[in-house]
Amino acid sequence: MNTTPEWQALAAHQRTLRDAHMRDLFTQDPGRAQRMAIEAGPLFIDYSKHCITSETLLLLTHLAQSCDVTGWRQRMLAGEAINTSERRAALHVALRGAGSAAAQGEARATLEVMRSISNAVRSGVWKGATGKPFTDVIHIGIGGSDLGPRLAVEALTSHAGTPRAHFVANIDPHELDDTLRVCDPAATLVIVISKSFDTVETIINAQHARSWLEAGVGRNIAPHLVAVTNNTEAAGTFGIPDTQILRMPEWVGGRFSLWSGVGLSIMLACGSETFDALLAGAGEMDAHFLAAPLERNAPVILALLSAWYVNFWGAQVHAVLPYSKRLNLLPDYLQQLEMESNGKRIDRAGKLVAYATAPVIFGNVGANSQHSFHQLFHQGTHLVPSDFVVMAPTPDPRSRMLAINALAQTAALMNGDASDPAAYPGNQPSTTIVLPSLSGRTLGALLSLYEHKVFVEGVLWNINSFDQPGVELGKRMATTLLPAATLGDVPHGTDSSTRSLIERINRN
Ligand code: F6P
Repeated sequence: MNTTPEWQALAAHQRTLRDAHMRDLFTQDPGRAQRMAIEAGPLFIDYSKHCITSETLLLLTHLAQSCDVTGWRQRMLAGEAINTSERRAALHVALRGAGSAAAQGEARATLEVMRSISNAVRSGVWKGATGKPFTDVIHIGIGGSDLGPRLAVEALTSHAGTPRAHFVANIDPHELDDTLRVCDPAATLVIVISKSFDTVETIINAQHARSWLEAGVGRNIAPHLVAVTNNTEAAGTFGIPDTQILRMPEWVGGRFSLWSGVGLSIMLACGSETFDALLAGAGEMDAHFLAAPLERNAPVILALLSAWYVNFWGAQVHAVLPYSKRLNLLPDYLQQLEMESNGKRIDRAGKLVAYATAPVIFGNVGANSQHSFHQLFHQGTHLVPSDFVVMAPTPDPRSRMLAINALAQTAALMNGDASDPAAYPGNQPSTTIVLPSLSGRTLGALLSLYEHKVFVEGVLWNINSFDQPGVELGKRMATTLLPAATLGDVPHGTDSSTRSLIERINRN
C-alpha cells in the first residue's frame, strides 16, 4: 500500500507542508472554511482546521481511489464476505434499510419481535412470574454487546421511562451485585446479550442473575429471561424459551450491532419511536456514504484525515471530545469500534504491514477535558488530531457557554498564540462535528458516520476491519491461568513475573 504512486505523492506533499502553520493557510485561503465543510444527514462537519490544502484533499482522494474505496463500498453493500477471515458479510447497513433484500427481511423480522416485546413489557401486558409488571431491565453483555446500547440509553435518557435499564458487563462482582441490590427480581427482566453465547464474563453474570431470579420468584423464571445471540442453541440450553431468543445474524459484527436485537434494551428504556429514529438517522448517513462522491463524502474525509496524520505525520493517537454530558460514553464506544476494527498489523493478504494502522483512541467529555488533558494539546510535544462533537446550544446560557468553549478550544489549538509561539505553538488539527440536538436521529447519524469511517480506514490500510483475532490470545491465557487463581497450581512455563503475582494475589 505504501509503495503506490498515490502514497508517494502524499509523502512528498507532506514535506511541503511540514513547516506550514494553519493560521497562514487560513490567511492565504479566505474561502477555506466554507469549502472544507460538509452537511451529511443532520450533521454539519467542519474539517478546515487541519494541516491540509485543496491539493492535499485531491491527493488524499487519489489515494482513496487507488485503494478502490468505491469498489469495497459496493462489495460491503452487496453482502460479499469482506470479513475474509470469518468468511462473513458485514451488512450492518441492512439493519437500517440498505443492502440485500434477504438481510433486510431478517432485520425487519427481528425488529418486529423487538417491538412486540417492548410494547408488551412497557404496557405491563408481559409481567413477571408473580404478576408484577417490569420496572427494571438488566442488560448483561460485554464489548459490542454492551457499549452501543449503554451509550444510546445514556445519550437518549430524556426519552427514557419505565422500565429502567441497567448495564452489567464486567466480571467484577460489584457490577452485577450493585445492580441486583437496587432491583426487585419479581419486577426485573434480564436480557443476556452475546453473539457467541460463550463469553465468560457474560455467561457467569447471567448464571448469577438466574440464581438471583430463582431465589426471588421460584422455579418459573422463564418470563424474566430474554437472549439476543447467534448461538440460539446455547441460549436454549441456558433455559431461555425459544420465543424469547432473538437471533443476531452472523453478518452483524459485535461492535456494529446496537441496531440489531442487541439494541432491545434501548427500545425498552426509550421506546420504539426513539429506536426507529436511531435507525433512521443511521440510514440517512448510510445513504450519504453510499452515494456521495469521495471528495464530498463525510466518512471518507474523516478516514483520509486519519490516515493523513497516522501515515504521513506520525500521529499515534486521536482524541474524541464530546461536549455533551450525555455522550460521555462516546469515547469508550469509539475505542472498541476503531481499535478493535483496525488495531491490526496483518493485512488482507496475511502479510505484516509496513505502515502504521489504527491510532490510539482516547477522550472525555468537554468542557471537563479542558481542565484535565488539554494542557498537553496546547503545550505538549505530541501531534494530537481530535474530533470535537458539539451540540447546537439550547436557550440555556450554560448550554451556549459549553458550545462556545468547544469552538474556542478548536480555535486556540489551531491558532496558538502568535505572540508567544514557543509557549503556544498551535497547529493542532481538529474536526468539529455539530449536532442540531441530541436525539435518536442525530445519534444514529453520528455512529453511522464513524462506522463507515472505520470501514474506509480499513480499506486504506488493506486490513479486515471486521474480525478480532487479537482478543482470543488474552482469553486463552486467562483460561490457562484460571486454575492457578483458585487452586494455586501455576502452569509450568508461566513467566516468573506472572507466577509471583499469582502467588501474591493468592496470599491475600
Ligand atoms: O472483545 C472480543 C469480543 O468478541 C467483541 O468483539 C465482542 O463485542 C465481545 O467480545 C462480546 O462477544 P459476544 O457478543 O460473543 O459475547
